[in-house]
Amino acid sequence: MDVYLDNAATTPLDPEVISEMSGFMERFYGNPSSTHFKGRETRVELEKARKKIASIVGAAEKEIIFTSGGTEANNFILKSLSLAGELNRIISSPIEHHSVLDSLEWISKNTKVKIHYLSVDEKGNCDLEELEKGLKAGKKTLVSLMHGNNEIGNLLDLKKVGDLCLSNNALFHTDMVQTLGHYPISLNALPIDFASASAHKIHGPKGSGFLYIKNKAGKLRPYFHGGAQERGLRGGTENILGIIGMAKAFEVARNTMDDQKALIAGLKNRMIEQLNSQIPSVQYNGLSGQSDGCMYNILNVQLPGPYDNTLLFNLDLMKIAVSEGSACSSGASEGSHVLRAMGQSENNFNNIRISFSKMNTTEEIDYAAKAIAKVYRDLLE
Ligand SMILES: Cc1ncc(COP(=O)(O)O)c(C=O)c1O
Repeated sequence: MDVYLDNAATTPLDPEVISEMSGFMERFYGNPSSTHFKGRETRVELEKARKKIASIVGAAEKEIIFTSGGTEANNFILKSLSLAGELNRIISSPIEHHSVLDSLEWISKNTKVKIHYLSVDEKGNCDLEELEKGLKAGKKTLVSLMHGNNEIGNLLDLKKVGDLCLSNNALFHTDMVQTLGHYPISLNALPIDFASASAHKIHGPKGSGFLYIKNKAGKLRPYFHGGAQERGLRGGTENILGIIGMAKAFEVARNTMDDQKALIAGLKNRMIEQLNSQIPSVQYNGLSGQSDGCMYNILNVQLPGPYDNTLLFNLDLMKIAVSEGSACSSGASEGSHVLRAMGQSENNFNNIRISFSKMNTTEEIDYAAKAIAKVYRDLLE
């Protein structure tokens, strides 16, 4: 049995998304910027997709700027605001995705913007009192804190952080790559200025995402030069096929959200119950073992060490796809910057991130739980 439990890294395409994209591919090839009829018909489809996505996430159409995914959206907003001279300071955290952390490192080396990282406790919560104090002390600040952590699943209270930013005249960006499409979120109803999203975490195509820019929030510099696409902010012919697939993925996600949540939360609970009964020493990182404050589709399992990289390797041999943390571009394990920031000493633990989707079954959960218990027992012997 092949078991795919790495859905926070990416998800398989939904059959409805495949059929939407195939149908589109066969009919439309015009460049949406061409003024002739072939271009115009593609432009209509592009704008229909924008309208659909905007209405699902509670935004206005002009607030959605298509990008190649979450990495670009994060780079775009952080660098664009920093280079436009709009900021003195960015407050973020050490548990953000690398597309935020590496952008912040670039900004600190190449601009005058100062970066401050909030403290994080052993459960993965950012220190919001420190944020409040910090906001009072400075001007022209952007806060960039992710909504759902991709490794431990912790959820940020967007309303609380957004209100703090509002009352201190700071801008608020949130990376919602792991949560948009999983929760009934209305962006315009929240006190946030910018949000990053991606299609491939919700059974849409890879290489397609968007940046939400609340009307008039901050002055932005174009991110790609070379065309007037996306309101002049992101030149380049739009990835129309990816955008069509993304719109369908958001539509399916919205229409099936409650059922999906119930199904996936049930699978996660089943995994917890089975691991608890088969591995008495098991713990869960962050808030991922709790029902509150955490995403319903991410479980980060902690097994007392010593650390041994054959654990994941052996699971791979048994055709169980899980990960140690986020998908790593080099393919090599570098340990988890999130767990390090939470104070974990890596050599003492084996951590497995298990992430679920609507395409998983109870049989897969039972098989994977048994396999994890077995490879862990073998490791201890
Ligand atoms: C929280 C978070 N932000 C950003 C990204 C990057 O998104 P993309 O793969 O669309 O570039 C990911 C993907 O792993 C993620 O989990």
